Amino acid sequence: MTPAPDKDANGASSLGAAPVPTHVAVIMDGNGRWANGRGLSRSDGHRAGTENIRRIIRAFAQHGVKHLTLYAFSTENWERPTEEVGALMELLGEAVRNETELLHKEGVRIRHLGRFDRLSPRLQRAIQKSVELTKRNTHINLNVAFDYGGREEILQAVRAMLSDGVRPDEVNEGLLEGHLYTAGLPDPDLIIRTAGEMRISNFLLWQAAYAEYYTTPTLWPDFGEGEVELALTAYAQRQRRFGRVAPAEVR
Ligand code: FPP
Repeated sequence: MTPAPDKDANGASSLGAAPVPTHVAVIMDGNGRWANGRGLSRSDGHRAGTENIRRIIRAFAQHGVKHLTLYAFSTENWERPTEEVGALMELLGEAVRNETELLHKEGVRIRHLGRFDRLSPRLQRAIQKSVELTKRNTHINLNVAFDYGGREEILQAVRAMLSDGVRPDEVNEGLLEGHLYTAGLPDPDLIIRTAGEMRISNFLLWQAAYAEYYTTPTLWPDFGEGEVELALTAYAQRQRRFGRVAPAEVR
């Protein structure tokens, strides 16, 4: 395992001059297993997972990460038991209503990525309110992927381009990116998945083309500040080449 970096007297990370990812995206997996291990319900696991989010936003912001994207509910998650889907909707609503004010004070800008039309009107209103309130904040951007699917995102972008009358020869990467939910955001540099699985699960399929991937067996509710440092330390040791070769390798 990669050793955690030391902290200085102010509690700041000694990652120091190490490269910090601009955009980190997280697949928050393992809430169900966390709950199972304690004889609790899956919904209890999601509640514990939700409570973990606040400290994680702070930890990434403290290290200088500017965009944090959290995969909270996928287009496939509708297939889960009705009670669990209801609990996840309820948790997002509660989180948005109860946390927005504090996040706003801390300079967090909140955005939603994904389909909006299948969320309840009440949830839609709550999300719109928090997006509007926080839109000028610059400390860190928090993108909540909720009813999000990477394939669905690409399909809706293609549909939007066709209905705008875009000609085939006008289609290029920039135009497509401008129609994704993530329009205006940089691609993720680092994708973290908790709870040990090695899957991308329909997350940021287009945007993840050159992202570094990091997985840990730690379950999401247990993923704390120390784990954030481990992930960032592992990232700092990666050689990113974006499909090219490093100058030293050219002969
Ligand atoms: C995966 O754990 C996690 C999810 C499907 C949802 C993640 C949601 C939250 C952390 C809470 C809601 C989010 C917000 C923004 C309020 P799993 O259920 O697949 O766990 P398992 O693989 O152990 O069963």
